[in-house]
Amino acid sequence: MLEKINQVEPNISGDDIQRVNDYMSSGAWITEHALTKELEEKIADFVGRKYAVAVPNGTIAIYLSLLAAGLTEGKRVAVPNITMIATINAILWAGAEPVIIDLNERLCMSLKSLQTVDKLDGVIYVPLNGRTEDGIAIENYCNDKNIILIEDSAHSLGSRYQDKMCGSLGSISVFSFTPHKIITMGQGGLVLTDDDSLYEYLLDLKTFNRSKDRSDWHDGFGLNFKITDLQSALGLSQFEKINEFVKVKREMFQIYKSSIENYNFINFFEYETPWFVDLICKSETERNDLKLSLEDNNILTRESYPALSKQSFLQSVEKTNLEFSENVSDNILWLPSSTNLTKDQINEIVDQISTLWTTKYL
Ligand SMILES: Cc1ncc(COP(=O)(O)O)c(C=O)c1O
Repeated sequence: MLEKINQVEPNISGDDIQRVNDYMSSGAWITEHALTKELEEKIADFVGRKYAVAVPNGTIAIYLSLLAAGLTEGKRVAVPNITMIATINAILWAGAEPVIIDLNERLCMSLKSLQTVDKLDGVIYVPLNGRTEDGIAIENYCNDKNIILIEDSAHSLGSRYQDKMCGSLGSISVFSFTPHKIITMGQGGLVLTDDDSLYEYLLDLKTFNRSKDRSDWHDGFGLNFKITDLQSALGLSQFEKINEFVKVKREMFQIYKSSIENYNFINFFEYETPWFVDLICKSETERNDLKLSLEDNNILTRESYPALSKQSFLQSVEKTNLEFSENVSDNILWLPSSTNLTKDQINEIVDQISTLWTTKYL
């Protein structure tokens, strides 16, 4: 029996551990300070944004983006039908009204579907799994229509819209750093913007809206959404390897794609970075068969997110025609995609998938 292969796991090595040890031995106060500032500046610079604000996770990052942009009660915000639940829940949390939009064949929000909806105040665009697709066209559309665009780039640090990095679309964008993201700090999120007043608002909200003399006087309402420099020590060390991780993810996708027949892969352009390798099965049954038999061989996979429109608690949300996304969402399987997978492990996974298909479906 093979040793267990996880669908994804963090890629933590000696240099990461050393960085955290060094920080812990430095006598620093653990909470958010200079290392977090350094991480914010480095990632803002990498994606070409003026400002980045660290927050505890990606969900809070989206929520604060919506508050900062004034997308709260009475405002209508479009969201793609396949995304992690946090994207729509942040809209609900902010008190705004979500409108669910269909996807195109590359599994991102379809501009055509978006154009069928009137009176939108905001759009959250998700470069799902690192694919960027209609992102730039949607940014132009939002500019033309005076709609605020937020980019939920949780999957997509290191991916690009041809000549623009993911994390730089629209007025505000966000990243997440959970253990299954391309770089991790355990938990963590970033809000990025080029707008001075949005930045000031986010900082005030995040740090109790303290008066500038740092006293216990406050200029208004504020909360605590700080992170810790302990996390940022790890984040900085991980971020130094972003280009290496991007390369590994791109190569991994090519190996899978060139070795597996009989299943459909949706391509990535050379400027995009696959977060997970997604296999498109012909039916839900085929996907479930494949998932179970790989599991019997100690290879773990993950079903892609169900369509939001199939969640029972979202039944009353306004929707466009969602035929494409509702059909495809049950057929997508995420294969093992850790950046520390060896070539031998990938070959083993590929062999198992081919064997299953030939024995079961030929
Ligand atoms: C597309 C997307 N948005 C938002 C989030 C939420 O991020 P977090 O788990 O850091 O709160 C995730 C998490 O996986 C995600 O995939």
